[in-house]
Parts: sequence; structure tokens; C-alpha cells
Amino acid sequence: MNWGNKIHLTVFGESHGPAIGAVLEGLPAGEAIDMEKVMAQMARRAPGHDITATPRYESDEPKILSGFLNGKTTGAPLCAVIRNSNTHSEDYKDICHIPRPGHSDYPAMVRYHGFNDIRGGGSFSGRLTAPAVFAGAVCRQILRRRGIDVGAHVLSIHGVSDTPFDPVNVSAELLEDLSSRYFPTIDHAAENTMRAEIAAANKMGDSIGGVVECAAVGIPAGSGGGPLSDGIESVLSSLLFAIPACKGVEFGAGFHAAELFGSEDNDTYFYDGKTVKTRTNNAGGILGGISTGMPIVFRTAFKPTPSIAREQESIDLNTKQTVKFRVHGRHDPCIVPRAVPVVESVAAIALLDMLS
Ligand SMILES: Cc1cc2nc3c(=O)[nH]c(=O)nc-3n(C[C@H](O)[C@H](O)[C@H](O)COP(=O)(O)O)c2cc1C
Repeated sequence: MNWGNKIHLTVFGESHGPAIGAVLEGLPAGEAIDMEKVMAQMARRAPGHDITATPRYESDEPKILSGFLNGKTTGAPLCAVIRNSNTHSEDYKDICHIPRPGHSDYPAMVRYHGFNDIRGGGSFSGRLTAPAVFAGAVCRQILRRRGIDVGAHVLSIHGVSDTPFDPVNVSAELLEDLSSRYFPTIDHAAENTMRAEIAAANKMGDSIGGVVECAAVGIPAGSGGGPLSDGIESVLSSLLFAIPACKGVEFGAGFHAAELFGSEDNDTYFYDGKTVKTRTNNAGGILGGISTGMPIVFRTAFKPTPSIAREQESIDLNTKQTVKFRVHGRHDPCIVPRAVPVVESVAAIALLDMLS
């Protein structure tokens, strides 16, 4: 449950335990952090606040135990605890012997010999992204002071698409606006169509997935690690794939680049008077794992929420029989809107780690 080279993040807790939390080590001392802004980011991810999300209401108020004094980081590990207050553990009693298709129940049971806390998905729950958003909201304030902005939008939900970023021209203002909204889309009309799609799936007792597109601007050319493992794509993806339900990450033109000629894919250079720029940005701002100075642009695919109300088949591990069952409990019909601040947050943590 820990990650990082220069910035170390540890996330702890279980969905239905007393609390979850984060320890963030390696932050510079003396960085002013506006905790109201941190809370605003956590509220974007918190459950029970929007009709498209799980009705499990949690206020997600972080209690800071160390590393923060008089509004500034002290340089000691920053530790925050978030209490779990709204648990219905009885909803999970069948899952101990009838694993949910699509969730971590079966492989986790084998991996931990049945001793893992399965209630609410235990430590595999999407709830564990709350501490990550706390940590990311802190990191992004430090990045913003250094002229680096991160923001994301819902690019698509179940085939309904938003306007993508213009990869050569992403403004800090656009990113700030997107990262202040619960259901951020560039084309405001797309939000309503996406919401209708989620409502329709929910009505059928089903779930849907989608894609989050994220951009980071202000990163100077030449940043990032060596070609073997510390490249920007490797570092970012290692945290993005840690977000539950993330099943794909692509940078720049991504998988589409495989269909292009080199002459189409290559981003040609020019001087804009002050700096080197590229006319296109199929590389997503990264070549050789190192920043080119262009916006870093990537997309993260989220699968449909595995816990659905519709009847499904599974197996009873006690009787070894195939059974039909329904998942009880309160679940997100679509993870994507709540995943947007999580993507932004882990991107901020990864970028601060690389730039520290
Ligand atoms: C913000 C967020 C909320 C989530 N909510 C749910 C949920 O309500 N029900 C559910 O079954 N899975 C939910 N998930 C996804 C599961 O945690 C995830 O699919 C599961 O742990 C298996 O991991 P994998 O899909 O990455 O393989 C959520 C994920 C995130 C990021």
C-alpha cells in the first residue's frame, strides 16, 4: 500500500473498518496548504453527494495527525485519517462464499487465504481513493505554486463523448475550471446526455464505464527520469493503474498511433519566438519518457462498476455449485465522474515525485 521515489504515499484502512487514511512523506517544509481547497477536492470524490453516485453518504473530513502546523507543511510525514461512518456490513455476508464477478473478492480470498476483510471490498474498495485525493490535493497546490496545473474531464461514458482536449493548446484556466466541477465536461451539453445514460443503466440494475482525459501544463521540457523505469509514462501509469476499475491508460495519440504513418504521427518542431514547440502533440508531451514542454495529455479507461443489482451467475465456494445471485448494498452505477478527481490527484502526486 505504498508508492513513490521522492514523494512517498502510503494509504491504509478498509472500506468498513473504523477509518482510512494517508501518510505522505518527502514533502518540502514550509509549503502553505489551503485545507479548504483540499476539502473541495475531496468533496468532488465523496460518495452520496450526486444522483449518479452511490447513496452511501460520507462527509470525508480528513483529521490531520502530523506534518502540518500553522497552515504550512512541517517537513515531517503528513498523516490524515478519514473516518468511515456509514457502513452496512450485513450487505456483504454472502460475498464471503459467493464471489462477485468483476470484483477482487475471489483472487483476494485466494491471495490472503480468506483472512482479508471483504466487507465493502476491504482495502480494494474505491473508498481507498479518498486518502489519495487528500494527498493529491496537497501536491497540486505545491505544483500550482511552481506554475504546473492539472485537470481532467469526462471524455466519454458508454459511447457518449465530450469534446477532447486540443493537445497543443490546453490552458491553465480550462484545467482550473474543470477541476472545480463534479461532472466536468468541456461541452456542457455532453454532461446531460451522459447523466441520462447513467440513469438508464441504473434503472436496469446495471452499470457503465467510460474514459477520463487528463492534462498537465507548465512542465518544462527535459523533466522526467531515465529510459528504463522512471519515464513519465511509467511513473504516471503505475499510480493510474492503482485506481480501482482502471483498465487502460494511453498517452497522446495512444493506440491510435499504431494506425498512423510515421509522417502523420511525428510531431514536427518549430520556434514560437521563445521556446521549442511542436505543431501536433501525438506524443502527449512525452518522448523517451521525458517531457517535451508540450501539454502532457493522457486518457484512463474505467470499466463498468462490477457490483450490479441485476441477477448474475457465480459459484458458491462452500458447495461448489453454480448459483444465481444479486449483489446487495449501495454501489456507483458509473465510477467515472467520481474517478475524475482521483485521476487528477494521482497525476499530481506522480508529477511532484518526478519534479522533486
Ligand atoms: C471512485 C470509485 C468508486 C467505486 N465504487 C464501486 C462500487 O460502488 N461498487 C463496486 O463494485 N466497485 C466500485 N469501484 C471499483 C472496484 O473497487 C474495483 O473494480 C475492484 O476493486 C476490482 O479492481 P479492478 O477493477 O481494478 O480489477 C469503485 C472504484 C472507484 C475508483
